[in-house]
Amino acid sequence: MFFSKSPHPANFRFLNSFNVETGELTDAEKTFRASLNSFTGDVFHIQISDAKLWGENRSIVALNEPSQHDSKKVELTSKGEILVKGPKNKILLKGQFGVLGENSLFSFELSDQAQFFGMGEKYFGQQELSGYRAKFWNTDVWSDFHWAQWGNNPSDPPYYSAPYVAAKIGDTYVGFLLHNPSPAFIETPGVDDSRVFVEWQRTSPNLLLGNEGGEPNLWIIVGPTLPELTRKLQKLVGVTPLPPLWSLGYHQSKWGYEGHDDLLKLDAEFTKHQIPCDGLWLDLDYMKGYRIFTVDKEKFPNGPQETADELTKTGRRIVPIIDPGVKKEAGYAVYDDGIKNNAFCQTSEGNPYVGLVWPGETVFPDFTQDKVRQWWAGYAKQFRASGFGACWVDMNDPSTGPVDPYEMWFNNGKDHHNKHRNQYALGMQQATFEGFKQAKPNERPFILSRSGFIGSSRYAAIWTGDNCSNYFYLANSIPCSIGLSLSGQPFAGMDIGGFGGDVTDELMVDWIKLAFLFPFARNHNGKGNRDQEPFAFKAPVMSVIRRYIRLRYKLLPYIYNLFIQQEEAGDPILRPVLYHYPEAGNEKLDDQFMIGDAILQAPFVNEEKSRKVTLPGTQKWYDARTGEWLAPGEVIVKRGREETALFIREGAILPMQPGTPTTTEKEMMGVNFHIFVPEDWTGETTYTYKADDGLTYDYQKGIRSAVRLTVVGAKGHLILNLEELADDHGPINPTFVLHGNPKSVKLKGQNLPTKPGRVMLTGRGLSVQVS
Ligand code: NOJ
Repeated sequence: MFFSKSPHPANFRFLNSFNVETGELTDAEKTFRASLNSFTGDVFHIQISDAKLWGENRSIVALNEPSQHDSKKVELTSKGEILVKGPKNKILLKGQFGVLGENSLFSFELSDQAQFFGMGEKYFGQQELSGYRAKFWNTDVWSDFHWAQWGNNPSDPPYYSAPYVAAKIGDTYVGFLLHNPSPAFIETPGVDDSRVFVEWQRTSPNLLLGNEGGEPNLWIIVGPTLPELTRKLQKLVGVTPLPPLWSLGYHQSKWGYEGHDDLLKLDAEFTKHQIPCDGLWLDLDYMKGYRIFTVDKEKFPNGPQETADELTKTGRRIVPIIDPGVKKEAGYAVYDDGIKNNAFCQTSEGNPYVGLVWPGETVFPDFTQDKVRQWWAGYAKQFRASGFGACWVDMNDPSTGPVDPYEMWFNNGKDHHNKHRNQYALGMQQATFEGFKQAKPNERPFILSRSGFIGSSRYAAIWTGDNCSNYFYLANSIPCSIGLSLSGQPFAGMDIGGFGGDVTDELMVDWIKLAFLFPFARNHNGKGNRDQEPFAFKAPVMSVIRRYIRLRYKLLPYIYNLFIQQEEAGDPILRPVLYHYPEAGNEKLDDQFMIGDAILQAPFVNEEKSRKVTLPGTQKWYDARTGEWLAPGEVIVKRGREETALFIREGAILPMQPGTPTTTEKEMMGVNFHIFVPEDWTGETTYTYKADDGLTYDYQKGIRSAVRLTVVGAKGHLILNLEELADDHGPINPTFVLHGNPKSVKLKGQNLPTKPGRVMLTGRGLSVQVS
């Protein structure tokens, strides 16, 4: 597979006849079997098969098919055309299927100009993706590209693959998902001329979706809106099961922490500086000579359990790294056992495939086989039981160092590398998740992974791999995360502060301000670079970093509830402005994003002294820096040392922890409901808040509490109504915090006594009324 070349549509043979009775898709010379299945919610699956050419469908994770339905929004005509219809049966796209050897292609003509979104993890610097030619092939970027390319520029493909694109045609969104783990490519029409230096950089006028090998499986979802489309996609690929609450806290990592002593030193520093931090991470150095599933005795003299026990006092957990590569060394138990169980990928000669990773010569478990996943789960189970709180699975692109991966065959040497590469990490995540569940059946596992594929959302959070400490990566982290959110991977984040290079004070502060509410928040840094723990900075810088980490904890009840909503409905946590404000032009807001439907952030993504912010919609926005209510439209925000531009939508109710969190302790029952309504507000708003033990699966048995708060306003006079929906996890005892000076407040028909208070969000102290 070339990174930078794709098969050209002109070289394909397009099939032009379909017999609905026999299911044969043909032209004068070739015949394939084709089926179109239609499911509830305007979800469609087109499968083209030819056992000889492609073998069977190789996906290790089946999608969640909704129930069958007879919608006709997608049709396969007798001419072999694929018609996609929108409102009033208007044809939005007309497609054809073509082959070129093992390569397959779906090419769609569009009825109208379109915009494109999604594509998972991409570094194109913008969320709207017209005129891009993208590849989907899990890549160890630093190993496979020259640094001059990735250091400060977009390189494609990156670590994680989601061959999915959402097209907006007129007012309708249509999603296209290639569910085939072989290399994929997507090309969108509408290239901007400024990006065309030579003519071949101009992309096709058609929307192209193809695979280099593997059975073609195209899923088409007809929106109609972006939120509806995204929810349907998320349910199809699998929602992210509610993660443990602690995993949503702040995490500290650096390649270089070694073991017991380092962890306790970090623990003491976080305690001393009163900075909440739930996860302390270990990179490669805790192992015995990079042998996975081993622990160096010198780093943990009494084993990790002792350290884990010590850390329970401050509520922190240890998250160690595990790579797939097993050191090739007779006498090393994991290697010997893997050989005995025939667990490793093979060469075309039938020997275990050998690559070069951290321990030198390395062999690789074949995660495409069920029996190997079970074998791995056994090790993961022991690992979890040994005192480690979670797991970070890395290098699972898989990275093989300077050794050509094409000699790494799967399925007992029967399947070529291409057929599985993109789902290798997915298999590793699945096996690790299973092992963790075996160790602690009633605890929700937490796994972080570098690579992934469609379905990873069910098992792991994704971080966007090795970034650099510079403004290119800072700015890109917004559209890149939006891409993941819209493509079925809602639990994601990047290395805060940057992995490669030395972060500056200014960049570190800008980074924490940008990322403190991201779904996953971990500060990670490469060996040899400037330390970037909050307390590695001078006091004034540290205090700003600390402030935003504390604010994340203050907002944890809101973030946790967004994850609950994600599991129930499929909405992502981090959203483009467009998600809730579909007005034309908002697709260009690449330096703004929303957390849930209530918080809008507009951080600095460069070193400018001021920036423009678009406050969308027709309602007012509360400026969390000043407590002022701003009319929608454009505002200019000046850079401030302590503050960041964060706005809260009129009518929002945000559950927060009381006070200023300084430890990992979490108050989810005595929650504060912050109510954001302007002075003379008239309207009605409601919010449902849920709380459970944050750790086990008991919530699935109904052990959860929930309340619904409704606020009705008439010219600034507010009536609050709090309804208890469930109390199986105990009573929720909220306090109300009113931003915006209401004229009167009533609860259950009685005047609610309030007293003045102060709250700090992202700027100065704000006056509120508390009751
Ligand atoms: C590559 C990962 O992307 C990085 O985060 C990690 O620190 C190194 N491997 C070393 O394990």
